Amino acid sequence: MRGGPGPHDVPVTRRSEVVQIDPTDPPPEPIRRAAAVLRAGGLVAFPTETVYGLGAHARDRGAVAAIFRAKGRPSTDPLIVHVPTVAAARDVVADWPPLAGRLAEAFWPGPLTMVLPRGSDVPPEVAAGRATVAVRIPAHGVALALLAEAGVPVAAPSANRFGRVSPTTARHVVEELEGEFDLLLDAGPTTLGVESTVVDLTREVPEMLRPGGVTLEDLTAVIGEVRHRERAVTAPDEAASAPGELLRHYSPRTPMALVDGGGHLAEQLRRTLAARGVRVEVLDLPGDATEVARRLYATLRAADASGAELLLAPSFDPAGLGRAVNDRLYRAAHGRVVLDAAPGTVDRLEAAARRERPDGPTSGDHSVH
Ligand code: TXA
Ligand code: MG
Repeated sequence: MRGGPGPHDVPVTRRSEVVQIDPTDPPPEPIRRAAAVLRAGGLVAFPTETVYGLGAHARDRGAVAAIFRAKGRPSTDPLIVHVPTVAAARDVVADWPPLAGRLAEAFWPGPLTMVLPRGSDVPPEVAAGRATVAVRIPAHGVALALLAEAGVPVAAPSANRFGRVSPTTARHVVEELEGEFDLLLDAGPTTLGVESTVVDLTREVPEMLRPGGVTLEDLTAVIGEVRHRERAVTAPDEAASAPGELLRHYSPRTPMALVDGGGHLAEQLRRTLAARGVRVEVLDLPGDATEVARRLYATLRAADASGAELLLAPSFDPAGLGRAVNDRLYRAAHGRVVLDAAPGTVDRLEAAARRERPDGPTSGDHSVH
């Protein structure tokens, strides 16, 4: 097969073939081919209901290493293992507590990832050396058919370069990773638009590490108390020991700020900065949280390509899916939050747009360089 993982340090250019596939009724032939590529140690990009993933055979160390290389992802950031059934999920974990059963019953297949004790035949590289493993059953016809046909657990991060905006269309995957995957199954845009919720069940009280498609309210309704640290960030050098999300994630290349005061404040800042000659774009995300989540990453990509020097994102009501949207905007903004249009705030934003430093109180400590 073309494009199997080469020896270490040898750059591999993979074929990056794109195959269109019907999401509701995926035909067997491309699914069989993609499954064979996975079993042979290749990399297959595939759709899920959240975002596109870059998949590899989770028990094949070489294939797993190839994912980290393809994304430029640090080996300290663990991957999610995707499986088609609860039985397959139980095969990759060392313990299946009652809470896991209840969550699986309520939300699988779906945008929920559970962190559980890692099974002994999942290589430590998948979990960045942790004693735990993240697992989920995606709710997407193509993903489920592929996972069932592959017959092996599939480790898959979002199919973007490390730290960048996640892909919600096949075109985004090609833009991000052409030459880095063997095959891409193109089933059109993903329906949910933000990643799965990650919940750690290995702690005394379950902790939501990443808000996503299954809301905190949904989780609490099924299992009771769930901890969540709002706007918690992990420094890169802590990533190996402390679970959580890095601050500079989901990032456009254009500097960005989250405006905690709504659309009017964002518009006022845009006008004030325009008077200083700064080209500002206010992200246009109308509609309810479901609609906003679906369009979020495409909007971020378009704004990034618009030639603006600064992006401003009004924050959302953190109820329901709005919590995940706010979380992604916060990280895309590298934790830069503004609350007013005072002269000091405008100066800070102008400096950020001009990429001067220092550009704000949270710009230094947790940055990924
Ligand atoms: O919706 C999704 O979850 C998508 C699709 C492709 O399934 N996948 C995805 O993967 O977003 P990725 O690699 O971009 O994000 C995985 C998240 C990271 O925040 C990682 O730190 C966390 O899950 N994670 C994975 N394994 C973990 C573990 N053992 N303990 C704590 N966090 C873990
Ligand atoms: Mg990701």
